[in-house]
Parts: sequence; structure tokens; C-alpha cells
Amino acid sequence: MSHVVQEKWSSGTAFLLAAIGSAVGLGNIYRFPYVVGENGGGAFVLLYLGIVIVFGIPLVMTELTIGRRRQVPPITAYTQLSEGKKSQPFWIFAGYSSVITPLGILGFYFVIAGWTLNYVFKILTGKLSNLAEGDTQAVFADMMASPGTLIFWMTLSVIITAFIISRGIKAGLEKAVNILMPMLFVILLSLVAYSAFNGGMAETFEFMFTPDFEKINMKTLLEATGQAFFSLSLGSATMLVYGSYLPKEVSIPKMACGVAFADTFVALVSGFAIFPIIFTNGMELNSGPGLVFETLPVIFDQMPFGNVFGIMFFLLLAFAAITSTISLFEPAVSNLEERGIFTRRKASLVVGIGLWCLAALSALSLNVLSDWHPLAFNSTLENKNIMDLLEYLSANGMMLVNALFAAIFLGWIVNRKESLEELGLGDSWLFKFWRSIIKYVVPPIVGYLIIDFLGYGLI
Ligand code: TRP
Repeated sequence: MSHVVQEKWSSGTAFLLAAIGSAVGLGNIYRFPYVVGENGGGAFVLLYLGIVIVFGIPLVMTELTIGRRRQVPPITAYTQLSEGKKSQPFWIFAGYSSVITPLGILGFYFVIAGWTLNYVFKILTGKLSNLAEGDTQAVFADMMASPGTLIFWMTLSVIITAFIISRGIKAGLEKAVNILMPMLFVILLSLVAYSAFNGGMAETFEFMFTPDFEKINMKTLLEATGQAFFSLSLGSATMLVYGSYLPKEVSIPKMACGVAFADTFVALVSGFAIFPIIFTNGMELNSGPGLVFETLPVIFDQMPFGNVFGIMFFLLLAFAAITSTISLFEPAVSNLEERGIFTRRKASLVVGIGLWCLAALSALSLNVLSDWHPLAFNSTLENKNIMDLLEYLSANGMMLVNALFAAIFLGWIVNRKESLEELGLGDSWLFKFWRSIIKYVVPPIVGYLIIDFLGYGLI
């Protein structure tokens, strides 16, 4: 079936940078700090770390293995690895599901990526300077109320992403992450240094690491798992497709640990970039987009060199977003190209146009279409507009389902020998441990979370 020989990453390091670029995104910098804030600080962080170690790393290994085993795009990987099994049609469906999910995620992610680009521009052009109390709320509300602004900046994020993808693995993705990721780290660490210099570190430590176990319940477990899966780019075809470009000699377990470590490090460190300046300025720790789009601009406006750091902060968000959007965009393009349906460039264009339409609907659901609740017949979904629905169904629901499929597939369906060879751990206790986790631990727990998710009124 394959019409095109797949390009490969030039090295393990190139892959690592791209995979970390995928994992590190709005989920880490924009979402993690406020989810921690909402869910009781330290106890949530501990729970999150536990989930990353117990499920996260084994699942990253699982998805990379499915991708690299035959070095083909995700749908073909599921098809080939289930060759000769009665359940093959189901696994082909699982392949499709894993490719469609990231498209659903992009439907809202592109819009938020657009906000970050718009804020870089706003701060550069002085639109966030000399503000009075409450003005930043108005600036944010104005942006949300303006279809033209939202669509313009969303379009820019789609174009940048499609352009990078159209150039291919080495000249496109690899080159982009080679430039963006080092800048991202430098900016992040400068922001932490700036924060530390201004005080508030002790409060941040206390806030992020003092465990309040009373806040931990089923809902926080679901929230932490969802956050971990989203942050590690699990439960979609992202890791499968990045894995399929990974040269055979590179160790998957090592790569998985590297990605999980860097991703968690950035999530935690982002907390240390954001919380101290909030605490020292006596600002409300609000949740949601307000934290970075309303509270932080006020502080940047008031602090010495705040403007410079403000620009750096929104650039950080934008870079993190773009290295993630490319990883969400690549699976569909990879499949279309391999099947000879389109060349890579045409596929990037077609997928880009389709996603632009979806993201435009999302953007409009923040203003003119805000009262349109397409799935109003369901009690859980009745108040959700398009953007909420995309987030809820793809980033919460489908991601769990796809992760469950991947674990069951490699744990129970695919011959043990395939992963034994691919992981390069030998028939060691580590290999057995990994396999037991994906066979016996992941399915019941993720299955339970899915039932719980559905139980919130979906069915
Ligand atoms: N991990 C990214 C973030 O934290 C988002 C992302 C990229 C993603 N690829 C993904 C999420 C695949 C789910 C699935 O922002």
C-alpha cells in the first residue's frame, strides 16, 4: 500500500526534541498551573506525578512501539499489526479514531494558539501598557467578542503549522523544533529567574507542594489523568506517528522517560514562573484563561522590565503551542501521503483548510455562535458550544478511549514478540513489568475512568 518511503528523524535527539515539543504545550504552561490551583495544590501534584510514572511512561512506550514496529503511519500500523486477527476491523477503526481525535483537539487548540499570537502582538504594540485595574479583563473580553480578531490569529496559527508540515520531517518539523525548543527553554528559565528575583518563591513552594488530601476524589483523579494524558500527547496518533519516524537503533524506553521527564519538568517549572509574581503582587489566583490572559498582563504592566518579560511569556506560549499543533496535524497528513491520496504539500493544504473551518466554528462559538449548543439533546452536553464540545469530547473522552485501545492492542492482541524486539529491554523484569502494567493496570483503571466520564450524564 505504501507509495512513499517514510522520512526519518535524523537522530534520537531530533526525535526527543520534537516529542518534547509535542508534549510541552498549552497543556503545561497554560493549563497545568490553573488545574493545580483549582484542585488543591500539592496533593494534586503528587497524584499527577504518580500517574505520569505509573501510566504515562508505559503508555508513551506503548504508542511509540505501535508506531515504530512497522514504521508506517498510524492507521496502517493498526492494520498491519492486527493482520490475521478476527478483530482486525475493530483495530482499523481504532487507528482511524486515533487520527481523528487530534483533529478534534486542533479544532479548539488552534483558537487558543491564536490568542497567544495575538497577545504577543498586543504587548509588542503597547496595547497592554499603562492599564488601569480591570482593563486587562476588557482587553481579553474584546478579543473574545471579536470574530475577526479571533479568526485572523487562528488563521495565522493554521498557516504556520501547515507550512511547517508541508516541508516534511527533516526540513519542516525538525528544523522548527531545533529553533523553537531551545528558545522555549531559555525563555522559561529566564522567567523563573525573573520571578525568583521578585520574591514569592516560598509561597509557591507551599502552594504547589503542601498536600491537601481532602481535595482528592474521583473527579480529581479523572482530572489528573486527563491532564497527564493531554500533556504527554497520549491517546491520539501523535506518539504513533512520531514513533514511526524514529530510527530503529534508538531506545524507546529511554525516549519515553526523557519525554515524560521534560514534560513534567516544564509543567512544574511553569508554576514557578507564574505563581510567584501572582503572590508577590497580591493578585487573585483565578482559574481558567483569566490567569494568563488577564492577571499576568496587569503584573507585567506594573513590574520593572515587565514588558520585556511579558513579550517573552507570550512568545513562550506561542512557541509551545506551535510545536504541539504540528504534532497534532502530522498524523492525518502522514496517512494521506502514504496512501498516495495526496502529496504531502496537498495533504497539508487540504487538512489545513478542513481544520480552519472547524477552528473558525470554534472561534465563532466564543461570540456569535455562543448560544448554539449542537448537542443540546444530551443533558451533559446541552450547555456546551462547539469549542467546549470539541474540548470535552476529544481531549477528555476520546483521548482516554484511544489510550485504552493502544494498551489493549499491544498488551493483548499483538504478539508479545513484537514488543519484546521493539523495546530492546530483553526478556527482563523491566519488560515484564511494563507489559503487566499495560495488560492489567491500564485497562481497568482507564476503562473505569471512561465509564465515569460517561457517567457524568453522557449516556
Ligand atoms: N501535549 C500538548 C500540550 O500539552 C498538546 C498535544 C499535542 C496533544 N499532541 C497531542 C494532546 C496529542 C493530546 C494528544 O499542550
